[in-house]
Amino acid sequence: MEKERSQENVETPEDLVSETLKEHDQCMWVVAEVEACLEKRPDRDGVWVSELLEKLSRLEAAMRGHFRVEETGPIYRQLPVKHPRFAERAAALEAEHKQILATIREVADKATGLAGEAEPYELRELNAHAQLLLATLQRHEAEENELVLEANWTEVGVGD
Ligand SMILES: [Fe+2]
Ligand SMILES: [Fe+2]
Repeated sequence: MEKERSQENVETPEDLVSETLKEHDQCMWVVAEVEACLEKRPDRDGVWVSELLEKLSRLEAAMRGHFRVEETGPIYRQLPVKHPRFAERAAALEAEHKQILATIREVADKATGLAGEAEPYELRELNAHAQLLLATLQRHEAEENELVLEANWTEVGVGD
């Protein structure tokens, strides 16, 4: 599966755009699962927390794989070299991978701490922290989509 997702067949800027969008579509179902869990009303006996922990663990595995594909692929290895004016944006986005993985861990640790019995306000705080994580993740992927699209337009002579 890792092999299929390696973006090694990306040869043209159009390929990079379509591969990036496809790759992001593939990870968004894991995000949607966490989102669905966050929409449920948390109970106080730990069932919701256990479900959230399971979804976060899938999210962490999926994001780890996705970030590895990007960090070794054209979006971060070739695009900034070819288009130096996008290099700073690309470097900032690449650096965000570590922060996102650390936040997934933080939310999961918080959930583990509430796995026994928790007060409603603690569960609400956990839910809010997880919502913020998903928003950051979605904004990150959207900015990457924009980056590859703008680089593509530059290459075909639109918008430069
Ligand atoms: Fe990324
Ligand atoms: Fe991405």
